[in-house]
Amino acid sequence: MSSATLIEKCCLIACPVAGNPTHYMVEQAFAQQGLDWRFMTFEVPAGRFGDAMRGIRALGFRGVKIAEPHQEAVLEFLDELSDGAKLGRSVNCVTCREDRLVGQNTEGAALVKLVRDWVDPTGKQAVVLGAGRLARVLAMALAAAGVTSITVACRSSGAGGRLVDAIQSGTSTSASQHVLGNTPLSINSDVSILVNATSLGMTDPNAPLPLNVASLHSKLVVAEVAYHSQRTWLTREAFNQGCRVIDGVQLYVEQTALAMRAWTGTEPDRVAMREAAEEYLGI
Ligand SMILES: NC(=O)c1ccc[n+]([C@@H]2O[C@H](COP(=O)([O-])OP(=O)(O)OC[C@H]3O[C@@H](n4cnc5c(N)ncnc54)[C@H](OP(=O)(O)O)[C@@H]3O)[C@@H](O)[C@H]2O)c1
Repeated sequence: MSSATLIEKCCLIACPVAGNPTHYMVEQAFAQQGLDWRFMTFEVPAGRFGDAMRGIRALGFRGVKIAEPHQEAVLEFLDELSDGAKLGRSVNCVTCREDRLVGQNTEGAALVKLVRDWVDPTGKQAVVLGAGRLARVLAMALAAAGVTSITVACRSSGAGGRLVDAIQSGTSTSASQHVLGNTPLSINSDVSILVNATSLGMTDPNAPLPLNVASLHSKLVVAEVAYHSQRTWLTREAFNQGCRVIDGVQLYVEQTALAMRAWTGTEPDRVAMREAAEEYLGI
């Protein structure tokens, strides 16, 4: 901060912003930490995003959370990228350090941190469902954390093939593709991590995935990205099978907490943040 009279400020940039719990969670966490910081939310369409980022620089924001649809577009406005952001080609957290805008991806970092609560990913096998932006971020983060092989299971062989190529060319992890179809996918007993990075749980939390539920074994860590409900079809089935479950709210809280830590240098209270997220989302 350049003047003692200025209050530190951070913000969210997204479009649309409706239904995004970030603002409420961050404000609750600032208050709980006794930080006299401000948080703002800006709905910025893709065509005005460059103007918004120039404004961030000029107005001296300390941190920015970047959400849909800007996580890839933001790359060209930054001075520095973390390794995770480079690998996943996606930034969800910008921190201003000595007038330089530094981009990182806390979604991948959050997944790896939460997986490590259950199992060391080094040398393990993983299955990632989906081949969209978040699937790429999470698969790359698992690869960077030492997972030896990743199966990308998705509907579109084109998107799946591109993700497999990206994993194999950008990391030392081997990758293969499974096209999700009518035959349910069985999860092998030597797979340790299963991540649902499709948007299915967000659009319909009760919609089943084409998975053989009986193959979800008790040593499997199952992570879900959908955060509009505590239980999706996958997390419910995984609990019933005795798996170690990371739900989408937990992932959202952790990635937001890691962003706040990058901005403030302090560790926010995840329990307070989860309560705020649940209150905001009405779950
Ligand atoms: N918890 C968190 O921290 C967090 C953070 C960010 C985003 N999210 C959520 O994560 C989800 C994915 O985000 P994204 O940015 O990766 O979106 P995206 O780029 O649009 O990718 C969505 C993926 O889901 C697949 N999909 C959609 N419906 C499907 C179905 N019925 N069966 C199988 N696959 C299906 C898509 O496959 P096709 O290409 O075949 O359509 C695509 O691979 C969104 O719901 C988003 O809200 C969660």
